[in-house]
Amino acid sequence: MTSEQDTIEQPGDAATATTSTTTNRRQPFPQGFLDTISTGWAERPESLPAPRAQAEYAAARRAAVSAAFPGKRLVIPAGSLKQRSNDTDYPFRAHSAFAHLTGWAADSEPDSLLVFEPTAGGHDVTLYFRERADRTTSEFYSDATIGEFWIGPRPALAGVAADLAVATAHLDDFAAGESDLVVDEDDELTRFVSELRLVKDEYEIAEMRRAVEITANGFDDIIRDLPRAVAHPRGERIVEGAFHQRARSDGNWEGYDTIAASGPHACYLHWTRNDGAVLPGDLILIDAGAEADSLYTADITRTLPVNGTFSDVQRRIYDTVVEAADAAFAAAQVGVPFREVHGAAMDVIARRTAEWGLLPVSAEEALDADKGGQHRRYMVHGTSHHLGIDVHDCAQARREMYYDGLIEPGMVFTIEPGLYFQIDDLTVPEEYRGIGVRIEDDILITADGPVNLSAGIPRTSAEVEAWIARVQGSAS
Ligand code: GLY
Ligand code: MN
Repeated sequence: MTSEQDTIEQPGDAATATTSTTTNRRQPFPQGFLDTISTGWAERPESLPAPRAQAEYAAARRAAVSAAFPGKRLVIPAGSLKQRSNDTDYPFRAHSAFAHLTGWAADSEPDSLLVFEPTAGGHDVTLYFRERADRTTSEFYSDATIGEFWIGPRPALAGVAADLAVATAHLDDFAAGESDLVVDEDDELTRFVSELRLVKDEYEIAEMRRAVEITANGFDDIIRDLPRAVAHPRGERIVEGAFHQRARSDGNWEGYDTIAASGPHACYLHWTRNDGAVLPGDLILIDAGAEADSLYTADITRTLPVNGTFSDVQRRIYDTVVEAADAAFAAAQVGVPFREVHGAAMDVIARRTAEWGLLPVSAEEALDADKGGQHRRYMVHGTSHHLGIDVHDCAQARREMYYDGLIEPGMVFTIEPGLYFQIDDLTVPEEYRGIGVRIEDDILITADGPVNLSAGIPRTSAEVEAWIARVQGSAS
């Protein structure tokens, strides 16, 4: 916080309630300020924007929700700011169902509500939010949480109505009802809006392509910065930071915390501490995805040899993970149960780890659904999850629609097999210990088969080596 904030809060002003813990650093506004602050401002030109591209898609999604809940009043909250500490909050990120049904994404307002009011023919839908205060109120200069002096221009009701092609009203005019169904409070509504995202429309697919493109550029940035990472005692943070810069400059944020896991850290599936060194001779596993301004995210993993070349054992493990990913990709066909994608990858993992003598049983025994699973020690996670406005999209969908559901055109999901040999795993030869590999791509299902949206990011061991040589060569 700036020191200016310490000096301009107004005692006794209702609009300062959100900062009322700071009574020890308030200084009253002198009368001259109060007499003049609301005057001398130019008129704001209020030309209304044309509806944004997503508006028609969001309208179709709202129509589906309305048809599924006749006669019910529905409330989809955007969510509120979350406190990080004292009077600092985390950056606001709207609830995914709210963003999906409004098209209001990185630019949405905390505490907004999308409300479906039942009518004879369906629902009237209204977006309630706190409109910006005009300059005759004290809010705009004295409220550090919502005042424009502090956080910049806020939207007006008419502008948002035109932009999103939805009716708007001030948040103060919303009254909760006893029988409201509220997302995240009502199971049926929460499930419905989650399952509504299982199949993406063309707007969503274009946004996911954009998220993958930003992410691809972020991986190039990481490779360019690898020498700096090697030179720094917390090189994993350099890697995280390189990606963050790209995600923030070209998108909204990362869709999830970046995993920058070098050496044995690669065996920790969600290593986000990222405080380790990046050492030549090791592999570094980077699992990162940029979130576009629409909030759609990519989710890509690449595992890179820090010095640019895989050792024999690293290459053997890496090429097996590619083989598992290729098998999963081949299985990802329209009409096939989603779970079979995982099955295809695990088949390769079981056969190879048995071949290397790592399993106490045969591959066939390991693959027995009830009595096997010995190979899962080296890959405990699933191979695929739906991807979209959330990294683990459609999380409240029923199992029969998700894991046991059939693959359909328009679905987008990851394929991300891995092999992880912990540093202290006595079941594997010493040369395997401390090596972790994951390769993750984002797959769009079309009527003609699966399309790898991240195919432009080098993937095989030979491609990865050439990629590092190319990017680092052009950087010097
Ligand atoms: N990218 C992290 C995960 O899929 O869990
Ligand atoms: Mn993933």
